[in-house]
Amino acid sequence: MAENLVTVIFNYVDYKNQIKSKQLPKHIAVIMDGNGRWAKQKGLLRTIGHEKGSRAVREVVEASAELGLKYLTLYAFSTENWRRPKYEVDTLMKLLVSSLRKEIHRLQDNDIKLNAIGNLELLPSKVLDELLEVIESTKNNSRMILTLALSYGSREELVHVMKEIANNVKNNIISPEKIDETIINQHLYTQNLPDVDLLIRTSGEQRISNFLLWQIAYAELYFTDTLWPDFSKEELYLALYSYQNRERRFGKTSDQLSKQ
Ligand code: IPE
Ligand code: IPE
Ligand code: MG
Repeated sequence: MAENLVTVIFNYVDYKNQIKSKQLPKHIAVIMDGNGRWAKQKGLLRTIGHEKGSRAVREVVEASAELGLKYLTLYAFSTENWRRPKYEVDTLMKLLVSSLRKEIHRLQDNDIKLNAIGNLELLPSKVLDELLEVIESTKNNSRMILTLALSYGSREELVHVMKEIANNVKNNIISPEKIDETIINQHLYTQNLPDVDLLIRTSGEQRISNFLLWQIAYAELYFTDTLWPDFSKEELYLALYSYQNRERRFGKTSDQLSKQ
């Protein structure tokens, strides 16, 4: 029912035209969820759902770049996803290699720079090599930074940050009094990215699943029942429309904001 309603609305309202280009979020992060359920609903293997998910990735990446978005971060594989059955993990890794290989030209054509965050050392060497190759060959692109969160977990990231800072304290590189939010930001995998403004999660789950816990402190959250393989640019426009019609107060009052 909810899904039908969304489809009906898409057909009648042109959200793209209502998006204000001067008020775009700087950074959108997406939890691409629901591939397995999409496949199951159709009586297919979960891994087919993952294959179909790459179409949605392509569509969202291109639509974001076209809109003028600067940072897009996609949660592709979590630290917890390593616990899935071996066949599924292996298929996801193979799919990553083939997608990176296929998409490199599209990234170049669209002037998109690829970046990756996560415990990348855990990735099979074939995936890591391909990833590093695409990162290297797109490093001078500047229209949009596309970050893939791979083998990423926010808690793992924070442990990594704390170890680095503790080592710096031990080696007298910084004093404990100097530790502040800026220093912490500088040690995160996302050190070159701004805070997340808009976090989208598909598939109806309303949880964060260990994604960018520090970076989403003041993000607007947008949940949709659409399963990831069905996600489209129209739904991205709808999420942006929703974002632009919210008041981000950052702790202040509405009155204070209107006087600014
Ligand atoms: C998201 O879809 C893709 C990954 C987590 C790798 P899922 O595979 O989680 O699909 P559901 O949630 O089981 O439907
Ligand atoms: C979150 O989805 C991870 C990715 C989308 C890559 P999951 O499907 O793994 O999340 P949970 O386990 O349902 O919370
Ligand atoms: Mg899931």
